[in-house]
Amino acid sequence: MRHPQSVSSALTPDTPEHLKLRGVMGMIACHDPQGLLVEIYYGATERREIPFVSPAGVSGFVTGDQGLGHVVLAAADIGAARAFYSDILGFRLSDIIRMQITEEFGMDLEFYHCNPRHHTLALVPLPVPRRLNHFMLQVETLDDVGFALDRVAAAKIPLMNTLGKHTNDHMVSFYAQTPSGFEIEYGWGARDIDENWRVVRHDKTSIWGHKRQG
Ligand SMILES: [Fe+2]
Repeated sequence: MRHPQSVSSALTPDTPEHLKLRGVMGMIACHDPQGLLVEIYYGATERREIPFVSPAGVSGFVTGDQGLGHVVLAAADIGAARAFYSDILGFRLSDIIRMQITEEFGMDLEFYHCNPRHHTLALVPLPVPRRLNHFMLQVETLDDVGFALDRVAAAKIPLMNTLGKHTNDHMVSFYAQTPSGFEIEYGWGARDIDENWRVVRHDKTSIWGHKRQG
């Protein structure tokens, strides 16, 4: 097993101010092999006495035991990234998607889970400067996705991928560009990982839709 150098230089942001800022009881932090800050906490704050009310009218987000959503990271050294997130942090492989870009060039996207969500992390083996490709938020209903798609169009936010359905997690989603340059995937209807899950491979990222724009 390869031990990324970053683990030995783990930061310890457990000052009272930092814990208060994050709303957790304890945490450590370190950098992944590409220098991305990773914070690991326990004892999150729960405020059930203040129910969430979406100002945009979203019926609800799928979080709880599935965490916030997922992130897709570009990894220049896929072996080092795999060693860090899988061997050290304990993420487990869900499946891979083989992307054949040209006849000569293809790559494997690797999808990892740490709870019932199909993937909380995906790794793209590309040496690109922007490490965060996109993050994903999952909502409770298909109408939530449709209303958000209308809001994106009304606000003239660049749509990056049209509405589509992914092959692996079955998420029905679209992708829009955030002001920071990376993308947000906004979706509904993903299937969960259970104890009978088996790793498979796919040849396409989407069953239908997700047509690249621009
Ligand atoms: Fe995604």
